Amino acid sequence: MNIILIGFMGSGKTVVGKALAERLGRAFFDMDSIIEEEQGMTVAEIFRTKGEKFFRLWEAELARRMGEERDAVIACGGGVVLNRENLENLSRNGIVVCLDADLDTLVNRLKDMDDRPLLEGGETRKRVESLLAERQPFYDRIEFKVDTSGRSVDEVVDEIADKLRARC
Ligand code: S3P
Repeated sequence: MNIILIGFMGSGKTVVGKALAERLGRAFFDMDSIIEEEQGMTVAEIFRTKGEKFFRLWEAELARRMGEERDAVIACGGGVVLNRENLENLSRNGIVVCLDADLDTLVNRLKDMDDRPLLEGGETRKRVESLLAERQPFYDRIEFKVDTSGRSVDEVVDEIADKLRARC
């Protein structure tokens, strides 16, 4: 059974995913990194040269492929939830875990980053607030939620591992 990590940018999917995979002895896939490898450019460059629509199509195709994996930990980009088919495909062999963080935490983690094309061209807090308002309803549909605000990676990994054990 795959463990699929979703959540807003800066919620910790990649860092937590890597640590969780290590803890559980599973393979780890980071969807954005795979897209970057396959395209030979960064996500920011893809947005700039090919557009968001192209990125979303590639992301959807990768979500289909990720659905074929077994016993992996998969970290998704924050916008994967925008397409219902993505979640259907990803959760075909797995359980979806949504990482949460409060607004201040997200802004703090994201404010000095320059690799998030959707946060460009505006004040980080305002961009995060407005995107979060759009995305929150999608994240709220996920029942398995873990808060990462003010917590160490180990604490978050512990909580996910405990909750998974309780479910099995
Ligand atoms: C996006 C989130 C990014 C990346 C792309 C679009 C989004 O991933 O996929 O910039 O739409 O929220 P992270 O959530 O890993 O930052």
